[in-house]
Amino acid sequence: MGVIKAVAAGCGLLLLLTVAAAAGKPAKKPIVIRFSHVVGENTPKGQGALMFKKLVEERLAGKVRVEVYPRSQKFNDDQVLLALLFGDVQMAAPSLAKFRSYAPAMQVFDLPFLFPDVEAIHRFQQAAVGRGLLDAMRPRGIQGLAYWDNGMRVISTIRPLRVPADAKGLVFRIEPSSVFQAQYARIGVATLQVPFKQVVDAIREGLVEGQENAWSNIYSRKIYTLHKNFTELKHSFLGYMVVTSTEFWNGLPADIRSALEAILAKVSEEVNRMAAEQAEVDRERIAAVPGVTIIRPTAEEMTLWHEAWIPIWELFEPQIGPEVLDAALAARKNSGE
Ligand code: LMR
Repeated sequence: MGVIKAVAAGCGLLLLLTVAAAAGKPAKKPIVIRFSHVVGENTPKGQGALMFKKLVEERLAGKVRVEVYPRSQKFNDDQVLLALLFGDVQMAAPSLAKFRSYAPAMQVFDLPFLFPDVEAIHRFQQAAVGRGLLDAMRPRGIQGLAYWDNGMRVISTIRPLRVPADAKGLVFRIEPSSVFQAQYARIGVATLQVPFKQVVDAIREGLVEGQENAWSNIYSRKIYTLHKNFTELKHSFLGYMVVTSTEFWNGLPADIRSALEAILAKVSEEVNRMAAEQAEVDRERIAAVPGVTIIRPTAEEMTLWHEAWIPIWELFEPQIGPEVLDAALAARKNSGE
């Protein structure tokens, strides 16, 4: 074989080897986002997580895979933030009442009667201070990505409540919020912090005699089969912050991160639209259940609730900070209050 032929044969072999190596090389594994939450799939958050998965897998096919774990399958809300920090999950959307240990300013969302309606909440969330709260937990390794709505909390109890005195002596399940604890203590109600997963059992076992939640959670967990009395005070809004860990988020390639941001913006819009509709639909479904009574206290009765609970604001101002509280007060201005 001449020198030229030998070199050509050698090159061919090299080419073959290179092609074979490329074919044998394992494809780059997709980034996996485990999204853990505590509610049913038939709720705004449940739907939002599924829509996020669908859009990610359409737009980032082969690059990112999303696994959704609903109904506390993986973690309760009190565990999920640690799970984020340890890398066991990459996304979660706990209610705004679950973040106080990571950023005390988040307690602004818990203050009773501060946000009279969803428009006021949105004004606050979209203003600079509200957007700033998405970054408030960064020093602790948590990055807020978006706010999602559920709806106004409604109180459900074993007996009808029209005025604060009607609640005296009851035990209520609350989320892990110092504000909620203080608010109920003011009207003689003892509280037990129970994870969402155990709320129905806690009611059934008689451990708690009251609780507050959004209509979609009351409907999806069938709380109306155990509690027939509902009191609508419009005192508090159940919303969520979609969160991730700063380590995971900052470690993503920039193009993937911005694609995920765009998807989340679209999903958040959709979740908030669905939440408003679902609150009405689920309320009507529950109202139609035999034996259910939904009380809307009169203006005089509402004054008693306001007098009992609004003084809480002052108590929590040092933790929340005057700047955050002032921004919330500014957001409530146009709510016709
Ligand atoms: C609750 O704990 O009652 C709610 O925050 C659950 C949820 O995520 O809606």
